[in-house]
Amino acid sequence: MKKTKMKTSKPSKAPKADKKPAPAPADLNVAVSGKPKKTYALIRGMHDILPKDEKYWKALYHAAEKLAEHFQYGRIDTPILEEVGLFIRSVGRGTDIVDKEMYVFEDRDGSKVALRPEPTASIMRAYIQHGIWNMPQPFKVWTWAPMFRHDRPQAGRYRQFHQVDFETIGAKDPAVDAELILVAYNFFQDLGLPVEIHINSLGTPEDRERYIAELVTYYRSKRSYLCEDCRQRITKNPLRLLDCKEPQCQPVKEAAPQLIDWLEESSKSFFMKVLEYLDELSIPYILSPYLVRGLDYYTHTVFEVYTVVPEMPPKEGSAQAPPSAQSALGGGGRYDLLAEDLGGKPAPAAGFGIGIERAVLALKHYAETNKVKVPSPAPHIFFAELGDDAKRRALRLINQLRGTGIRLAFNFLKGSLKNQLELANNLKVPYVVILGQKEVQDETIILRDMESGVQEIIDQKKLEATLKKKLASAFETESVSAVV
Ligand code: HAM
Repeated sequence: MKKTKMKTSKPSKAPKADKKPAPAPADLNVAVSGKPKKTYALIRGMHDILPKDEKYWKALYHAAEKLAEHFQYGRIDTPILEEVGLFIRSVGRGTDIVDKEMYVFEDRDGSKVALRPEPTASIMRAYIQHGIWNMPQPFKVWTWAPMFRHDRPQAGRYRQFHQVDFETIGAKDPAVDAELILVAYNFFQDLGLPVEIHINSLGTPEDRERYIAELVTYYRSKRSYLCEDCRQRITKNPLRLLDCKEPQCQPVKEAAPQLIDWLEESSKSFFMKVLEYLDELSIPYILSPYLVRGLDYYTHTVFEVYTVVPEMPPKEGSAQAPPSAQSALGGGGRYDLLAEDLGGKPAPAAGFGIGIERAVLALKHYAETNKVKVPSPAPHIFFAELGDDAKRRALRLINQLRGTGIRLAFNFLKGSLKNQLELANNLKVPYVVILGQKEVQDETIILRDMESGVQEIIDQKKLEATLKKKLASAFETESVSAVV
C-alpha cells in the first residue's frame, strides 16, 4: 500500500504575549503538585436544582405561564447585571437589600454594577428606556428569573433564588391591584396550596410623612426596649422599624400607631375599593397594619402571600424543612412614583414577586403531609432491547415516538432483559416494549402488560397507534388530575 505523507502545516509562531505562561491560579496548583485534587462544593447560600425536584419546578412554571396567558401578561426578560444606581434609587438606601445584601462589584471598565436583587426596578428601567410609556397602556408583563441577595442562608432563604414576577405599568385603578392579587392567589390555588393574603395601604408620601412623625415620637419614647438596628432606624429609615423581626422589638411594634389611621380620604377610599374587589373574588385576606414591605418604592396597596398550612417543626439544619410561617411566599404592591424617580414620565404601576424556592418547599411539604400527588413526568413505557442490532433499532423507534406525548424510559447499559425488567418494575411503568434480534428481523416488537404479564407481538409500524390506544386512559387521568 502506498504510503501518503500527511501534509503538515508550518507551526505558527506563538503570539508574543503567550511566551511566558501565566501563573496558575492557586487552586490549580493542587492538581499540578500531584496531591489529591481539590473537590468543589457550592458557595454558601447557593443551591443546585436537581432532577428529583423537576416536577415541582415544572408545576410552578406551568402555573405561572398559564396565568400569564389567561390574564394577558407578555413575557419580559432583563439582564442579571444592571448599574448599581438603579437599585439604590428604587429599592432605597436604608433597606436591607441595598445596605446589606446587594452583590456589587466593579466591572472591567471601572463602572459599578450589581447582580439584580429584584426584577421590578429593571422592568421599569426597560419601560422607560424603550419608550413603552408612548404605547397603549397598561404594559402588563411577567418574568421568571434568578435574583441575588447576600442574605443569611436558611431554609427557603438563599443568596441566589428565583422569582416569578408580574407587573402592570401605566394604570392606577383598584381593579389593577385586585387583578394582581388574584393572579398571585390563583398561582397557589392552581397548585392546590392554600394561602392567604396579608394586606395594608401605605398611602401617599404625604400620608406617610405625617405618620412617620408620629411613629418616630412613639419609638423614641421606647428606645431603651429596642434592638441596636431599630435604634438606628429611628433616624435612618423609621418605616423599617415595622419590618423588624427581633423578638425584643415585637411588643413595641404591636402597640405602635397604625398607618391606616393617617391616610387621607382619597387613599382610604382607594384601599377600600381594592378590598371590595377581594371580597367579590372571595380571596381570603388579613388586614396587616404593620405590613410595610422591605423596599422603598411602594405607595398605597402593599400585600404579602402566606401559606396557611400548619407548620411542621423544621428539621434541624435541613434544607428540606418548610420555610418558616414568618417568611412570605410572595409580596408586592403599588409603586406609582418609581417611573418618575428613575427619570421617566409619570406611570403609576403595581406588581408582585413570588419566591420559587419557597413555593417549592411549601408545595412539597403540603403534598407530603396531605398525600397530594404532584404530576410528575413519570414514564409510561419502558423500552427494553437485547443485542446491538436491537439497540440501534430501539434508538430509531424511540426517536420516532418524539412529540407523541408518550414518555419513554430506557437504559442501554443494563444488559440482560432481567435487569431491564427489574428497572421497569421499579419505575412502575404499566407497559414494557421488548426488542430482540428476531423482532428486528421481523419488523415486530413485543408489548408486555406489566400488571398481567401478558405479552403480544405487534408490527413496529403500529407501535405508536397501539401504545396510544393502551395509554388512552392514562392520558385521560393525567389531564384530569393535573394540578396545573
Ligand atoms: P420581595 O418581597 O423582596 O419583593 O421578594 C419577593 C419574594 O421573593 C419573597 O416573598 C420571597 O418569597 C422571595 N425571596 C426574597 N428573598 C429571598 C431569598 N433570599 N431566598 C429565597 N427567596 C427569597 C420583591 O422583590 C418585589 N420586586 C416584588 C414586587 C414586584 N413588588 C412590585 N412588583
